[in-house]
Amino acid sequence: MSLLITGGTGYIGSHTVVELQALANEQDIVIVDDLSNSSTKVLDRIEKITAKTVTFIKADICDYEAMNEVFSLHSIDAVIHFAGHKAVGESSEKPLSYYYNNVSGTVILLKVMAAHNVKKLVFSSSATVYGDNTSPLNETMPTSATNPYGQTKLMIEHILFDLAKSDSDWSIACLRYFNPIGAHESGFIGENPNGIPNNLLPYVAQVAVGRLAQLQVFGDDYDTVDGTGVRDYIHVVDLAQGHVKALQNLDKISGCKAINLGTGNGTSVLEIVNTFKEISGQNIPYKIVPRRAGDLATVYADANLAHELLDWQATRDLHAMISDTWRWQSENPQGF
Ligand code: NAD
Ligand code: WQD
Repeated sequence: MSLLITGGTGYIGSHTVVELQALANEQDIVIVDDLSNSSTKVLDRIEKITAKTVTFIKADICDYEAMNEVFSLHSIDAVIHFAGHKAVGESSEKPLSYYYNNVSGTVILLKVMAAHNVKKLVFSSSATVYGDNTSPLNETMPTSATNPYGQTKLMIEHILFDLAKSDSDWSIACLRYFNPIGAHESGFIGENPNGIPNNLLPYVAQVAVGRLAQLQVFGDDYDTVDGTGVRDYIHVVDLAQGHVKALQNLDKISGCKAINLGTGNGTSVLEIVNTFKEISGQNIPYKIVPRRAGDLATVYADANLAHELLDWQATRDLHAMISDTWRWQSENPQGF
C-alpha cells in the first residue's frame, strides 16, 4: 500500500515525509507536486536524512487525467494533502488563481480519490479560518475569513464536511495549523520562500544571514506583553509528527474533524527577534512601522483536542525552533 503526499516537496510536506519514513511499518510514499513553489533538490535531501527513496511524480492536482493515472499506477491507501498556494497578500491580487488551484484542485483530487475508493484524508487547513475570534482558539468557534487565501481554506473545509456527511466511509482530519517555523535538526531541509518572505521567521532569518538589511516590525501598540503581535509558533517537526498521528488515528475519526495543531503558547515579535539574536549571535536590525492591515494582536491555539484525539502535543520549545531555523539558514544561505 502507498501513501500519497500532495505538495510533498514543500516546506511542511518534506518534513512530514521524513517523519513518515521513520516509521517502522512505513508505507511506500508517493509525492505529487507541480514544483510551483519547491524544488526536486528536496528529494535528495530527504534521501540523505532517511536513507530511503520516495516516488516523485511532477503533476498538477488540477489535472484530473494525471491524478487518475497516479491512482491507477499506485495502490494508494490514504492521502495527505498539502498542495496549494499560501501567500495571503498574493491571494488578494490573484484571487482566481487561489480559488482555482486550492479549491478546484482539491475537488479534483477528491473526485479521483472517490473514483478509486480511497476515502482517508489529512488536509492542511489553517488557523486563519478562526477570523477574529479571541484566543485561545478552539475548534467549536465560528469560522470566517478575511482574504481569498483564508476563504479557500474555509471553502475546502465546508466541502470536506459536506462530503463526509454524504458518505460515512470518509475519514478526514482537517488540521488547522498555527504558525509553523523551524527546520529539520539535520539542517538539510527547511523553509525556502521565493522572493521577499511574507512571514516573520524567514524574514528574520534572512536579516540574520545578511540577505535582507532590516526587519520591519508591524506595530508596537497592540495590547500584548511588549506591544508587538503575539502568535503560536510551532516547530515544523512537531507539526509533521501531528500528521503522522492524524493518519494513525484516522480510523477513530468518523466523518470530518477539524483539529488544531499549535502549542497553546504565544510569543511576541520582539521575543522572536531577541531570541534569534541570542542564538545566532547576529545583529538583527529592526524598525517599528505601522500595523499591517488585517493583523490581529494575539493568536494562539487551544491545543487540547489534538491531545485527546490524536495523543499528540508539541514538544519542541522556542529555543529549538529558532536554533533549527538558524542552522538551516546559515548552512543554506540561498536556500536549496
Ligand atoms: P509550500 O508552498 O512550501 O508547499 C506547498 C507545495 O504544494 C509546494 O511544493 C508547491 O509546489 C505545491 N503545489 C502548489 N500547487 C500545486 C498544484 N496545483 N499541484 C501540485 N502541487 C502544488 O507550503 P507549506 O508551508 O509547506 O504549506 C503546505 C500547506 O499547508 C498549504 O496548503 C498551506 O496553505 C498550508 N498551511 C501553511 C501554513 C504556513 O504558515 N506555512 C500555515 C497554515 C496552513
Ligand atoms: C507573524 C507576526 C506580524 C512579518 C500568516 C497567515 C496565516 C498562516 C501563517 C497560512 C505578526 C509580524 C511579520 C514581518 C512583522 N499561513 N511580522 N514583520 O500573520 O500570523 O499568519 O502565516 O495559513 O494564514 O496570515 O504570520 O509570520 O506573517 O506574522 O512584524 O516582516 O509577525 O505582524 O504579528 P501570521 P506572519
